[in-house]
Amino acid sequence: MIVCRDACFTLHTAHTSYQLCADEQGRLLHTYYGARLPDDAPNLRPTRAPHAEAGRRLNLLPFECSAPGTGDFRTPAVLPEYADGSLCADLQMVGAQVTPGKYELPGLPAFRGAEQTLCVTLRDCAGLEVELRYAVFPQHDVITRAAVYRNTGAAPLSLRKASSLCLDFDTRPLDMITLHGKWSQERTPERAPLRYGVQSVGSMQGVSSHAHNPAVALCRPDADEEHGDCWGFALVYSGNFLCEAERSESGNRLVMGIHPHQFCWTLAPGESFVAPEVAMVYAADGLGGMRRCFHRAIRAHLLPERWRDMNRPRPVLLNSWEACYFRFDQDRLLALAEAAARAGIDLFVLDDGWFKGRDADNSSLGDWVADVRKLPEGLEGLCRRLQALGLDFGLWIEPEAVSPDSDLFRLHPDWALRVPGRTPLTLRNQYVLDFSRPEVVQALWEQLHRLLSSCPIRYIKWDMNRKLSDVYSAALPADRQGEVYHRYMLGVYALQKQLTEAFPDLLLENCAAGGGRFDCGMLCYSPQIWCSDNTDARSRLSIQYGTSLFYPPCTMGSHFSIVPNHYTGRTASVEARMACALFGTFGFELDLTGYSPEALAELRPYIDWYRAHGALLRGGDLYWLLPPDAAGSGAAWMVVSPDRDEAAVFAVGDALCGVERASTLPSPPPRLPLRGLCAQSVYEDADGVRYAGAQLLAAGLPLPTLRGDVPAYLCYLRRTADPRTTA
Ligand code: DGJ
Repeated sequence: MIVCRDACFTLHTAHTSYQLCADEQGRLLHTYYGARLPDDAPNLRPTRAPHAEAGRRLNLLPFECSAPGTGDFRTPAVLPEYADGSLCADLQMVGAQVTPGKYELPGLPAFRGAEQTLCVTLRDCAGLEVELRYAVFPQHDVITRAAVYRNTGAAPLSLRKASSLCLDFDTRPLDMITLHGKWSQERTPERAPLRYGVQSVGSMQGVSSHAHNPAVALCRPDADEEHGDCWGFALVYSGNFLCEAERSESGNRLVMGIHPHQFCWTLAPGESFVAPEVAMVYAADGLGGMRRCFHRAIRAHLLPERWRDMNRPRPVLLNSWEACYFRFDQDRLLALAEAAARAGIDLFVLDDGWFKGRDADNSSLGDWVADVRKLPEGLEGLCRRLQALGLDFGLWIEPEAVSPDSDLFRLHPDWALRVPGRTPLTLRNQYVLDFSRPEVVQALWEQLHRLLSSCPIRYIKWDMNRKLSDVYSAALPADRQGEVYHRYMLGVYALQKQLTEAFPDLLLENCAAGGGRFDCGMLCYSPQIWCSDNTDARSRLSIQYGTSLFYPPCTMGSHFSIVPNHYTGRTASVEARMACALFGTFGFELDLTGYSPEALAELRPYIDWYRAHGALLRGGDLYWLLPPDAAGSGAAWMVVSPDRDEAAVFAVGDALCGVERASTLPSPPPRLPLRGLCAQSVYEDADGVRYAGAQLLAAGLPLPTLRGDVPAYLCYLRRTADPRTTA
């Protein structure tokens, strides 16, 4: 619900409220974001300092969109450069409107299906107009905010920075939580108090990156998993981003949006620039409360529509990468597929190496036709044979890349990003195609369309294995090169949109050298993203834990793989590896051809378990009972269905050796206090043992004492209709 009174606005969700209000000079101020207020609660305007200067102390005011040069000396949200060289703006509110439904952001990914939109228009006397757009998702306690920048002046103006969000908090201390990482160790949470000054995370890699994620949380210093005030912000964007948190005498400010690095967008009179949106959550019940709000909202309002129903099964897949890498032919693939079919797998994904001349990572990207040396019957023939085994077919592709050694590059050398007069950098032996050019996107579309029309391909893994360098487009004039990074992202989004609309049953999984582009932008087109190339169970616990601060488990590509693990050399039990794969989309990535019929049969119960409880795992609420520690030695978590009728509990490693961290000495059988269940109900496990909900919440679920290399325990609980007997 959005309430407007005079020049004040309150956006209400079920449990939160967000307020903004124009002051006497028309400056739009932020007045509140936190726990739900009464419907008609007035806006508390900032109190006036008791001296004449106060009205002019703009540096003390909480701005809803900060601009430089006119008295606010903190981090600006927008940096306009007018034709006369001036770099300032004093934005005043000139109008506001509430409309039903959700605002549009042409060309950009966005949450859909909001109840109401508020648009507040601000204008600077020299011509910059900013339309702040807010949408309310009451049920999920999410508010989205985007900004549209328009030139209403008579001369061109350039945007040197055009952020999506500016949010001013009071002066009380806050901690900031960010997700940092690297290849094979993505999204590690880091929490630190906001210091005076500016702290930032961002990406200048052209992709949202392994290094930092475009989602951050701010929380009170005493907030933990279950308690305390937390605010979360997830940018719905997959390219360069910057998130700046500034602590100053006047409070804490957060500014988030596209990174100003090599960004300059020129607006002719009448033109607009649309900045991506940020999804915001406030939760009073700690980081757990915050993450569950994001999870529910992403599932219900961001994922592609046809994958939003969590009852809709996702295929259990086997990916050929760790089984074969580049070394395969049709016979080898079919042997692998036969084993997969025997284990009960649904979908066979042929990863890298299937196209013309691709025997290593040094050639052929861009030439998306099957290599007849390896696949004499082409993709069509392979697909037919897979179907005969009862398997669907999925394919890997890297549409944004081109190898110097490829027909595509030989034909169109100017289609790669490259700065005139310089030799472009190769990373993983490849260049990046200039997706800012519509004709390049169109050419890739034609190749993809041909491929997907050639046989029933049910799944595409869209990979992107490098950062962008040499960012310069041969198709744009010198003074528009600051637009290339963003136009590139618009090209990627346009192609993913076109692809998924033309092939509505296609399951698209994004990937970027593991999890280098795991963000809300990509999730708008693909309901799952490959989380990391590191498939080691203990590493995955940390990666999936960090990722789950914002992104729901059903979006995390996670596979059961071989031991010793190819990346870490470590081992873990079958149960632990299964538990980690079951956390996410549940697939397999290993060579099953050496597995005996008995060994294959051992995999089957897990697949059956996933089939039986997949809707719960995908659509339930996640509770971390014991977060993974830095050494990756164990963790425990559970998923509870929205109606609290069902739950799945997972305990891995140390969690089974006592909820207090493991010791080498025998300890009493551990108990794991659960969360999210109904205290008044009785729950029954798969063996028919009954527990009172209150008992599970307070005393805990008794765990078996297991030993060995990273043991694990999985338990399914169902609320019984008959509450008479309990354990
Ligand atoms: C990087 C991906 O993350 C891997 O899963 C695999 O698809 C390789 N690329 C293939 O080159």
